[in-house]
Amino acid sequence: MTQGPLTTEAGAPVADNQNSETAGIGGPVLVQDQLLLEKLAHFNRERIPERVVHARGAGAYGTFTVTADVTPYTRAAFLAGPGEETEVFLRFSTVAGNLGSADAVRDPRGFALKFYTEEGNYDLVGNNTPVFFIRDAIKFPDFIHTQKRDPYTGSQEADSVWDFWGLSPESTHQVTWLFGDRGIPASYRHMDGFGSHTYQWNNAAGEVFWVKYHFKTDQGIKNLTAEEAGVLAGRDPDSHQRDLREAIERGEFPSWTVGVQIMPAADAATYRFNPFDLTKVWPHADYPVVEIGRLELNRNPGNVFAEVEQSVFSPAHFVPGIGPSPDKMLQGRLFAYGDAHRYRVGVNAGHLPVNRPHATEARTHSRDGLLYDGRHGAAKNYEPNSFGGPAQTGRALWQPYDGFAGGTGGHPTPPHAEDDDFVQAGDLYRLMTEPEKERLIANLAGSLAQVSRADIAERAVENFRSADADFGKRLDTAVAALRG
Ligand code: HEM
Repeated sequence: MTQGPLTTEAGAPVADNQNSETAGIGGPVLVQDQLLLEKLAHFNRERIPERVVHARGAGAYGTFTVTADVTPYTRAAFLAGPGEETEVFLRFSTVAGNLGSADAVRDPRGFALKFYTEEGNYDLVGNNTPVFFIRDAIKFPDFIHTQKRDPYTGSQEADSVWDFWGLSPESTHQVTWLFGDRGIPASYRHMDGFGSHTYQWNNAAGEVFWVKYHFKTDQGIKNLTAEEAGVLAGRDPDSHQRDLREAIERGEFPSWTVGVQIMPAADAATYRFNPFDLTKVWPHADYPVVEIGRLELNRNPGNVFAEVEQSVFSPAHFVPGIGPSPDKMLQGRLFAYGDAHRYRVGVNAGHLPVNRPHATEARTHSRDGLLYDGRHGAAKNYEPNSFGGPAQTGRALWQPYDGFAGGTGGHPTPPHAEDDDFVQAGDLYRLMTEPEKERLIANLAGSLAQVSRADIAERAVENFRSADADFGKRLDTAVAALRG
């Protein structure tokens, strides 16, 4: 802000910012004190609704640089060849906690990335885990209700958390991951990121590929044990946020090596796992991770409210050459985010500096509404028009999908040859070293022991038993020992 006299919101000079105006000495306060009324009224409106999930987070700007030729797979302009650079904004987050909650908790971390490309903003709204708890968006509100505050106690309740997971066996893989060593990253810099869902890439010839994105931290993976996290969360609730900002201030720019797994479209129907099931990974032996780029964060936002709190990311923000898959979770998300943004930030959220395209401009005929700034001037607001306005291109961003059969209905995600709810959870358990298994069992048992009902705890243990007999047996013993 410039020097000069303090002013009201309307720009008039303020004479006294210490004493409100009264009727005489010691008398009641006057309504004509515009500064007082304005200050109190504006203060009451300083908050916007926090995100319904991922409320707690931190963000930074940076650069994505392409390191490989991916033009055989996608025609996206920002991926056009090695050396191509794109400005990005990345917001990290936890999922369940409120805006003021601690960073060092056992929870997935959000990894929401906005690429400001010359063909519009491309948002990849992922997590630090390659899979998720459920595979159908219709279950998401129920799932999150169990992660958030109970309607009666006002706290997160182990009974609800484990009741839902026990009754949703498809969560076993993600829960095994979450209670393992990577469940509490030491910082946002020391964890990987994933697009998690399968997305469509299509090339200039119109050929389709299914891809999964991986962001491998160049800082190395570092995690906290449950005990370390407990201490840190109390001592420094802002630990992750502070770490990210201070590292960038020191010029230690965190970076990630970016890769993709690429599946030719023809493989999808017969692959051993349904490639559109978010509870499953594609083992690297089937589809190796191919390096395509480098992501670096190098600039802190200047104003947290304007650029982090008001930032919006949508899985529906695609660019030419990239599109959705039929993953039922992703399909639900294509609706949910824009809807959340219109409620949380407003219908013109996309006009804010952090959200608007930086390498092109938005030429839409949607306009007006709350806080519209008049940017379209006198231009006609419809299409087609005869006044030289922007017009449709006639080319879709992604290619059609026709890999489905039958009529409409509440169809579950169709299982492929090796799909069940437990196979990959068991594989993950068997991959762990003995000390990793011990910590996993201790973490799970510590949480399960807080459940008040034996039937809820037993049903949850049964899912891990289905994943691996040894896993189930050891967990059963550990829970029994803690429950007494
Ligand atoms: C159908 C399932 C899901 C629904 C309905 C859903 C819905 C939402 C909503 C409403 C928000 C708040 C958006 C805002 O206010 O700006 C949000 C945030 C977020 N979600 Fe989801 N979500 C789902 C699944 C997922 C999955 C599977 C991932 C990761 C793979 C994910 C990652 C995120 C991230 C990273 C954010 C924070 C974005 C930011 O930093 O602003 N969500 N989600």
